[in-house]
Amino acid sequence: MTASSSLAPLRVGLIGAGGIANSHHKGYTKAGASIIGFAEPVAQTRARRELEWGIPGFETLEQLLAVDGLEAVSVCTPNATHAPATIAAARAGKHVLCEKPLSLNLLECEAMIAAAAEAGVVLQTGHHLRANWYAQKARALIDEGAIGRVCYIRLRQAHDWGGNKTVSPNFASLERSGGGTLLDNGCHMMDLARYLAGDVKNVFARTATLGFEIEVEDVGAVSLEFHSGAIGTVEAAWTATGWEEGFWVYGTDAALECTNRLGKRTLRFAHRQSTGSDWAKLDETIYDVQDEGGHSEEIAAFIRSIRNGTPPICSGSDGLESVRLVLSAYQSARERRIIDL
Ligand SMILES: NC(=O)c1ccc[n+]([C@@H]2O[C@H](COP(=O)([O-])OP(=O)(O)OC[C@H]3O[C@@H](n4cnc5c(N)ncnc54)[C@H](O)[C@@H]3O)[C@@H](O)[C@H]2O)c1
Repeated sequence: MTASSSLAPLRVGLIGAGGIANSHHKGYTKAGASIIGFAEPVAQTRARRELEWGIPGFETLEQLLAVDGLEAVSVCTPNATHAPATIAAARAGKHVLCEKPLSLNLLECEAMIAAAAEAGVVLQTGHHLRANWYAQKARALIDEGAIGRVCYIRLRQAHDWGGNKTVSPNFASLERSGGGTLLDNGCHMMDLARYLAGDVKNVFARTATLGFEIEVEDVGAVSLEFHSGAIGTVEAAWTATGWEEGFWVYGTDAALECTNRLGKRTLRFAHRQSTGSDWAKLDETIYDVQDEGGHSEEIAAFIRSIRNGTPPICSGSDGLESVRLVLSAYQSARERRIIDL
């Protein structure tokens, strides 16, 4: 691991310079990190980002990893390359924030976790929603007993690729993506399900490809049973209209309802001060804050883990568990049966 003063800005590099890399760039900039360069094999993308970001672009990962003083990287490449990039970076002694899904199979996830442990570096999985203000607030309310016993949780992430009629090959091809919306979006929801309701005992899933001519599913629903006895549903879709991200947690005493569907994200804490005969009338607190979704916050958490030694907000093992849940859901959909974890 590269030694450095705990007060010096983190020296970080980005692997991949596509869509999500820009959120990482923004997050590191906001956190005051020093972004020393990026690796990107596509010359046109490299040239565009060099201009936009004002930092050097390297053609290969190896060139970036060789830069003197580099301490950490964000892996922002297509799913199939997460494992080799993370393992190479960890072996070079760099802390890694790897985008989701951590990898495409559990053996690769285990190899990534082992490489980070052997090198003594932080491995964080990019399930940024854990760092989102609303998810943190919900978790705090659950922890303090404000909603009673969690009975049912529903999580949904869905969009329509902005109305595009096609899906990029990095997401549409099974070889490159490893799965469809359930892996891409559903893995975030699986992680949030574990964050809010604990570990999952079994899953039953249905998937379909209805809106696009692609190899992978564009709609999926997974029924979950948690070890706590609670039950829940994860929904993922590329066949939605517009963009939706939300979670709903129903407890014996109150409910938490969070969605961005009405223009901006809000969280409703719906509860009853006293019992009454009007079923529809509730006491409620609406939380409405400025949030960035969690991308910048997860980067701040990554830097804290590196500098202060605090556990990652979403570890490599957490990343593995969400992949396990999605793969089990795929098995369930194929075999049309409940899969025990
Ligand atoms: N956390 C989130 O909410 C979120 C959102 C979007 C994407 N993602 C994840 O981020 C990853 C990238 O998604 P994206 O939307 O940015 O894709 P993208 O296709 O826009 O960008 C990926 C970039 O990586 C580059 N690349 C490919 N192989 C590389 C390699 N070996 N080394 C360096 N660069 C390489 C590509 O040329 C491309 O520019 C995916 O795993 C995706 O699941 C996460």
